[in-house]
Amino acid sequence: MQRPLNQGHLWLKEVIKAGDSVIDATMGNGNDTCFLAKLGAAVTAFDIQEVALIKTKQRLEEANLSANLILDGHQNIYKYIQRPIKAAIFNLGYLPSSDKSIITLAETTISALKQCLSLLEVNGRIAIMIYYGHAGGQSEKNAVIEFVSQLPQENYQVYQYTALNQINQPPFLVILEKKK
Ligand SMILES: C[S@@+](CC[C@H](N)C(=O)[O-])C[C@H]1O[C@@H](n2cnc3c(N)ncnc32)[C@H](O)[C@@H]1O
Repeated sequence: MQRPLNQGHLWLKEVIKAGDSVIDATMGNGNDTCFLAKLGAAVTAFDIQEVALIKTKQRLEEANLSANLILDGHQNIYKYIQRPIKAAIFNLGYLPSSDKSIITLAETTISALKQCLSLLEVNGRIAIMIYYGHAGGQSEKNAVIEFVSQLPQENYQVYQYTALNQINQPPFLVILEKKK
């Protein structure tokens, strides 16, 4: 069986074709950016930490891949992207190897999600990995769940993929698809 992050990748892979525009809203160490770039997609990746750009650039170079890396918050997506996107991925929380006080926040995450939804093509998908065990994580989780839960069902399919028998607060996946 797949863990939530891998399952999210598989569900994105099902709809992404080479040349599609996609967004990595939280670049971090570049795992998702590299995954998307390997599919041949035109990736735009965002992070507010320079260390994330440095690591991701290095990983892309090692794998002979390319992506457009932007040192700015995902709440500013509209400044950089106006064309339709096939997919987006969010990996919420903090960068594991870095300053754990720099976390994604409900307000900016919801703003970025709204921008991605308005750019999303029909049959396009957004994967959101929710980590919420850290300080501030619970309120962001609640805000994201509340936001995606009220998306109209005639326009979006929204699912949650969660471990039910794990101790502590295991990260889980929200995946949504635009129907029309
Ligand atoms: C859990 S990590 C992402 C992991 C990453 N997807 C990977 O593959 O390694 C969350 C990242 O979100 C970044 N972040 C926090 N607030 C942000 C914002 N407003 N816009 C973009 N990135 C943000 C953090 O700097 C951190 O690198």
